[in-house]
Amino acid sequence: MHKNTWTAVAHPNIALVKYWGKRDERLNLPAVGSISITLDTLESRTQLRPSPELTTDQFMINGVPAPEAQQQRIQRFLDLFRAHTGKSQFFTVTSTNNFPTGAGLASSASGFAALAVAANAAFGNPFNLRELSVIARQGSGSAARSIFGGWVEMHRGNAPDGTDAFAEQLLPPEAWPLTVFVCVTSELPKTIGSTEGMNHTAATSPYYTAWINQQPADLAAMRRAIQQRDFEQVIDISEFSCLKMHGLMLSARPGLVYWNGVTVDIIHHVRALRRKGIPVFFTIDAGPQVKVICLPEVADSVEDSLKEIPGIQNIYRTGLGEGARLID
Ligand code: DP6
Repeated sequence: MHKNTWTAVAHPNIALVKYWGKRDERLNLPAVGSISITLDTLESRTQLRPSPELTTDQFMINGVPAPEAQQQRIQRFLDLFRAHTGKSQFFTVTSTNNFPTGAGLASSASGFAALAVAANAAFGNPFNLRELSVIARQGSGSAARSIFGGWVEMHRGNAPDGTDAFAEQLLPPEAWPLTVFVCVTSELPKTIGSTEGMNHTAATSPYYTAWINQQPADLAAMRRAIQQRDFEQVIDISEFSCLKMHGLMLSARPGLVYWNGVTVDIIHHVRALRRKGIPVFFTIDAGPQVKVICLPEVADSVEDSLKEIPGIQNIYRTGLGEGARLID
């Protein structure tokens, strides 16, 4: 039977050494490399159905037509496949997330990674995984990392055409498992998206150059910590990178404040747990949610204690998961 739909799943990833800033906006090239972990449990599921009657792509997100700006973003993304293969096929794209969309939980990462894998199959597999990460990056920088599972590095690259700005796996998920608690402190969509926030920071922060210049040292230290399975170092570098990025955001003009009061309460709570000897740390992206990360052997006690913090709306418990893949 002729195949007429392609469905892929991908998981969000959480950066431990953060990406913030672009060296080329058109190709969406990052100004810094980054290192992340890919989650399991939370997922984007994206289906492509060729629609011969269409002259543009149609994008449905969580059951409703996406706003115009997102339609265009998807259209431009699928244009990359059309330009490369010479096939002028348009699609109905249906995507669902099993977690809040656009609230700083990396839905663009899992969404574009799933779309990249489904589109690759629909266009006859023109790209290998590394090339797919280059393609996914053009949808959203962090999406390049969700192509792979486990511990992943995204390279900044130097080439003007972006061919060396790809992601690759550092360790598969089972090589060094972690438990991640995604603590949702607000389900409202974030006010300033990552792209806009980065560009504003680059244009106005007096600290931006220092941020860029320090990143290679953080990446090297994190690579070493992962290789040596040194969790104390992972804690130290991750919180440093997270707070440095938020310091940078705060130093923009006007400053970007992504946190709420509960975000700050969780930071203090995690640090109090650490003072009691529990190996756990936090990281926060362009939103008020906090990801609390620990080794699996202390996960139950960390979860019990997080449940005591007033104001957390929801806690998702996940481990490390696989890269983006087709499911049919
Ligand atoms: C704070 O990948 O969402 O989560 O490339 O403009 O789509 P665009 O940005 P995006 O930025 C992610 C920023 C971050 C840190 C990170 O994930 O590294």
